[in-house]
Amino acid sequence: MAVVDLREHTEEFTADPYPFYAKLRESGPAHLVRTADVEEMLLIVGYEEARAALADPRLSKNWRNFDLWSGEDGNALNANMLEADPPHHTRLRKLVTREFTARRVEAMRPRVQQVADELLDSMTAKGRSSADLIDALAFPLPMTVICELLGVPDLDRDRFRAWSNEVVAPTSPEATATAASEMSVFLAELIEDKRSSPGEDLLSGLVKAREEDGDRLTSDELVGMAFLLLVAGHETTVNLISNGVRALLAHPDQLAALRADFDGLIDGAVEEMLRYDGPVETSTFRFTGEPVEIGGVSVPAGKAVLVAVGAGDRDPARYPDPDRFDIRRPTQGHLAFGHGIHFCLGAPLARMEGRIAIRSLLERCPDLAPDPEGGPLEWLPGLLIRGVRELPVRW
Ligand code: HEM
Repeated sequence: MAVVDLREHTEEFTADPYPFYAKLRESGPAHLVRTADVEEMLLIVGYEEARAALADPRLSKNWRNFDLWSGEDGNALNANMLEADPPHHTRLRKLVTREFTARRVEAMRPRVQQVADELLDSMTAKGRSSADLIDALAFPLPMTVICELLGVPDLDRDRFRAWSNEVVAPTSPEATATAASEMSVFLAELIEDKRSSPGEDLLSGLVKAREEDGDRLTSDELVGMAFLLLVAGHETTVNLISNGVRALLAHPDQLAALRADFDGLIDGAVEEMLRYDGPVETSTFRFTGEPVEIGGVSVPAGKAVLVAVGAGDRDPARYPDPDRFDIRRPTQGHLAFGHGIHFCLGAPLARMEGRIAIRSLLERCPDLAPDPEGGPLEWLPGLLIRGVRELPVRW
């Protein structure tokens, strides 16, 4: 089977990958592709195959099953459950689920609203009529919320944002390695602080958490967990807010419908934003633990597999007229939060933040529009995260 070279499709593809995915899907739900980092891997673009792959136990999340694995386990950041298989994954997920409860998330609701209101107060302060929406709202809201939930005090947020951006959308292998090692030192110190002076926060809870059988997280596992929660907790939600607002501004009829009935439509609108242009374009890497055949393509053991959830969610076989942004359409089963044992732990929090942020923004700015003086949009590099660096708006 011919290998599709994704390196040829850089800028245009990053700005709008959907036509390319649609074309690929017409000739089959799965394809061998080449990227800047990997010579040959499987990319899944069909909905049914994507959903099945996300829950396929033959596809491992452990880098040791990759034939290009360096033989080193990386640093403590990698000791996280998104890079683990059962029974290790089961153990880590159980320990964090006990702390990351629906109650804890629901208890954050008034605070999420308050943070959104404060950010919008400063964004729209007297005399101001334009802003970068990411800087003003989409980034600081989830960042503040996840830091407060975890108990990260006075974090140098710009520094953390730079590390985190680098890890999810790498600019060079050297820069990524530096960001990862600085981040892991920072987190190890933070966890030591929690050990010596615990609070009511989630990270203190994780440090103390102990199963009935005496199981608890090791220091490296705590660093890995804190890393995963902090990065997954804001890199994605930023883009739910900004991609969602972009979609609304580009579809004035949908925006008007939402404005006319926030109570009735906001939940469905956020689901459609997730389906139509979600923050995660492709899942994190999976590796074939044994030879498999997916979508008619045979892959030997040890190969990387990427599930293009953004492509699956635009599969016309699952969602009729998939490129239409329609906040009233049924979106059940979309893959924006993944599927199977690694289904997003933070989905309820992300949904709450997205709904509150977008509704509050639209209520505060009845004439919100893209800022024509903002210049062209710059897209985050890489296949993992879909979003822009800045979103200039005016009101
Ligand atoms: C709109 C926002 C979000 C989106 C679109 C999203 C998407 C995803 C996806 C697609 C996965 C599965 C990845 C895979 O299987 O390769 C995932 C896993 C995960 N997400 Fe989210 N996420 C969001 C927000 C959050 C938040 C706010 C948190 C934490 C507070 C979070 C924590 C996690 C964790 C811990 C996992 C790993 C679960 C496991 O391995 O069992 N996410 N997320």
